[in-house]
Amino acid sequence: MDVVIRRARPADERDVRAAVRTIWGGQDRVPALFDRWVTHRTGPFFVAEVDGRVVAMGKLTVVGEREAWLEGGRVAPRWRRKGLATALIAHRLAYAAKRGFTVARFSTASDNVPIHRAARRFGFRRARAYVRYEARAVRGEPPGRARPNDARAILRLAGPYVRIPAGWEWRALTVSDVRLAIARGHAFVAGERAVRAAAIVGRADEDSLPVIALGGSGRELRELLAGLRGEAARRGSNRVSLYAADPAARRAAAAAGYRRPWSGAAYLYEKSLRPRAGSGPSPGRR
Ligand SMILES: CC(C)(COP(=O)(O)OP(=O)(O)OC[C@H]1O[C@@H](n2cnc3c(N)ncnc32)[C@H](O)[C@@H]1OP(=O)(O)O)[C@@H](O)C(=O)NCCC(=O)NCCS
Repeated sequence: MDVVIRRARPADERDVRAAVRTIWGGQDRVPALFDRWVTHRTGPFFVAEVDGRVVAMGKLTVVGEREAWLEGGRVAPRWRRKGLATALIAHRLAYAAKRGFTVARFSTASDNVPIHRAARRFGFRRARAYVRYEARAVRGEPPGRARPNDARAILRLAGPYVRIPAGWEWRALTVSDVRLAIARGHAFVAGERAVRAAAIVGRADEDSLPVIALGGSGRELRELLAGLRGEAARRGSNRVSLYAADPAARRAAAAAGYRRPWSGAAYLYEKSLRPRAGSGPSPGRR
């Protein structure tokens, strides 16, 4: 099998669409993203060509100064189990290491066995198993808004990851993210004398108020999560949605009336990349 991995070109759209046509019941997001991804502006979008035809793909998205996010790994059904996904991951990791990225991450469903195997092969660790919870908005007292000097405590409690709303994409939470969230009224805290629970929310829409970072435990976290249901109502959303990884957050979510809409989890995998001496310049932000 003669495989060439190269950057996608606009003319690949037909093959890319054909390769993903049956994935997730025809609901795959890659066709909608193709035009944006093929510009390579947010990071390179690679395709694997076999005998002159594009049959597999994988994107590397720059999500932080030195953080690479791997997404869009797809192999056309009849070309699976031939090592194409593995080759595309290897290609992106080599690219990332060469460009001075210090970490690579990706997420996948808890039942996606081929990707778990690939993760193991490349030495990724499973950093989190995120379970989704949702709760209906209800009228009630919203939680306390964070103040500027809460930033460090929020970072410590709600970090080290922040979710990019709309999907299963995480990157490192920074103190500037927290400061911005506080300034926008998107950071909430609970605790009497000290911050014991913290949440950062993304932009609310009619469907949902998304919690994008969360931390703490016990009564304070439960109250904070219950309060966010009031905040969702205040913002005109139908529900609050969140991903909880640690047992304390999951217990607090259940106690605050949140339910799991499905039983699986989103696994977040992470691998540190050791930059080679003399490797290229900083990849820069998006
Ligand atoms: C997941 C997917 C990309 C894997 O592509 P692939 O080219 O078949 O994968 P590879 O041949 O490189 O195999 C990767 C590993 O998974 C194993 N594997 C592949 N298919 C498997 C299957 N159906 N069941 C169990 N193991 C499987 C391989 O043996 C290999 O493991 P190893 O490294 O321990 O030998 C492909 O199945 C696909 O496009 N699925 C739909 C989209 C998707 O789930 N994308 C990933 C989103 S995170």
